[in-house]
Amino acid sequence: MCGIVGYTGKRKAIEIIVPGLHKLEYRGYDSAGAALVGTNGIDLHRAAGKIENLEKSFLTSPPDRNATTGIGHTRWATHGAPCVRNAHPHLSQNGHIAVVHNGIIENHVQLRARLESRGYVFKSDTDTEVIAHLIQEFWNGSLMDSVSEAVSMLSGTYGIAAVSSDEPDTVVTARKGSPIVLGDCKDECIAASDVSAIISHTNRVIFLDDGDIARLTPGSIEIRNPEKTMVTRPSTVVDWDPGKIEKGGYEHFMLKEIFEQPESLENAIRGRLIPEDGTAKLSGLQLGPSEIVRITNIVLTACGTSYYAGLAGAYAFEQISGIPAHIEQAAEFRYRNPIVAPDTMLAAISQSGETADTLAAVREAKRKGALVMSICNTVGSTIAREAGRGIYLHAGPEISVASTKAFTCQVAVLAMMSVLFGRSRRLSNADGTFLINAIASLPELARRTLEQNDAVKSIAERFAEASDFFYIGRGYMFPAAMEGALKLKEVSYIHAEGYHAAELKHGPIALLDKNVPVVACVPSIPGCGKTMANIQECKARGAPIIAIATHGDERIRSFTENVIEVPECPDFISAIPVAIAEQLLAYHIANIRGEPIDQPRNLAKSVTVE
Ligand code: AGP
Repeated sequence: MCGIVGYTGKRKAIEIIVPGLHKLEYRGYDSAGAALVGTNGIDLHRAAGKIENLEKSFLTSPPDRNATTGIGHTRWATHGAPCVRNAHPHLSQNGHIAVVHNGIIENHVQLRARLESRGYVFKSDTDTEVIAHLIQEFWNGSLMDSVSEAVSMLSGTYGIAAVSSDEPDTVVTARKGSPIVLGDCKDECIAASDVSAIISHTNRVIFLDDGDIARLTPGSIEIRNPEKTMVTRPSTVVDWDPGKIEKGGYEHFMLKEIFEQPESLENAIRGRLIPEDGTAKLSGLQLGPSEIVRITNIVLTACGTSYYAGLAGAYAFEQISGIPAHIEQAAEFRYRNPIVAPDTMLAAISQSGETADTLAAVREAKRKGALVMSICNTVGSTIAREAGRGIYLHAGPEISVASTKAFTCQVAVLAMMSVLFGRSRRLSNADGTFLINAIASLPELARRTLEQNDAVKSIAERFAEASDFFYIGRGYMFPAAMEGALKLKEVSYIHAEGYHAAELKHGPIALLDKNVPVVACVPSIPGCGKTMANIQECKARGAPIIAIATHGDERIRSFTENVIEVPECPDFISAIPVAIAEQLLAYHIANIRGEPIDQPRNLAKSVTVE
């Protein structure tokens, strides 16, 4: 969602802030702005729409290029329309303080009323503006102290960066529920809402903990915890290659990330497979066999694409490990007072590691005494840190809002976990070895699926004008169908529904006709014969069929000529090649329709609000 960049050092702040904002574009936003601590006070620039509009505004209203301290923001509207007036930064009444904020201030209405009664005049509809006025209200000559007092009044979530013309060369940041990461550089300091805006300057970063406030001056960082005690937070080295957050010759990040999957899967499994023992080594879990064997129930929780990966994972846990497992939508888990039985393990799955509902589910599960672990891609993210134990995907930065390589790596990690857990129970060495070898083949399976790119493109050309799609599958292909439909909706804006193949005739089949293509996920795995019968039912209603089927399966050709072939593999990992085929289909359809694939309307990469 919103993005923050702050800088103080010796360089021209605007030249760090604007490129930093570009690096955060993938998070989704609808206005942008920057505030510099200039020679004549705060120099404010804001524009609705893309960052390019902000840059264009510099032609008529040039930023103070001598300023070496400043903050910038990309806003994804929550309170108030996406217009200049509501764009961040927001200024205090006296104009001396500028603030950018990610998150939601839940008590902003009450705070606004109180500040208005004290003579403050609001210029925006945002919840953020109260923070700027509160800092002025508590001003005691120290930006850090004043921010500290201001945030003590706030309920809700925030990641904040503030500057003041009364304390030049200083950026103060604070976080509660919305991440802030600091770049640990020599002679200068950078703060941002995620590593992407920092990585081209340094790979050594410090993640603030919830409740922390940090004061950055050129080359020094001072952090206070919620008890106002000075603390040192560890510095982490992030092994992202800055080149990975560039498009590298691809037209879109989504396509680049789809094609990166042989490599990302390789990274996700590297060093984690022990074929001779028929098991996996997942050190981040910090669980030995005697502890694993005591886990009698697995609850997976996640949102969106990560939820569908979890659904496939739940099937694998039951089938391979023999442990009862189910997935819960994270927003449900947090509010419905779930029963957490003794020896329950909660696995929170999140690419970003910042999804508000998934984070809340982690906290609720911890309160209820579950053993909590995370499966995240973003190193040092809040979910990964709060879970305490977990497995990183190592998929590399995922910039496209539509998740692709994270999904396939999540399924791969869950497959490895299932084998590991199975080996402490009923899974034999020989069976474990078979499964581990199958997991080892994932990069090659991905490579072979990607060879279908041209075939998928031709199919996309045939169906790009459709306004409704169905995706069907059963067993492991049910989550695959759901994920395929989600991907198409997100990037092409076509209405698409994922359905269990057997459920279709209980209602939705009424919608089928020659204008509604059905994407049938039907690789040769148990249950595929039944789905073939369901395909026949769709065909009988005139629906065109696009089949994702195993290479060489001739049966499917009698139903349709629109076949995307995936290589043969065991069922527990079959969602991976099928998802890659679906990603290509969604991508090409969206591209033909000319949609803004990497940043679809209304969507944000990381959903940090409920
Ligand atoms: C995926 O394409 C989506 N953009 C979205 O559903 C996403 O998977 C969801 O918001 C969860 O995000 P997370 O994995 O970062 O927690």
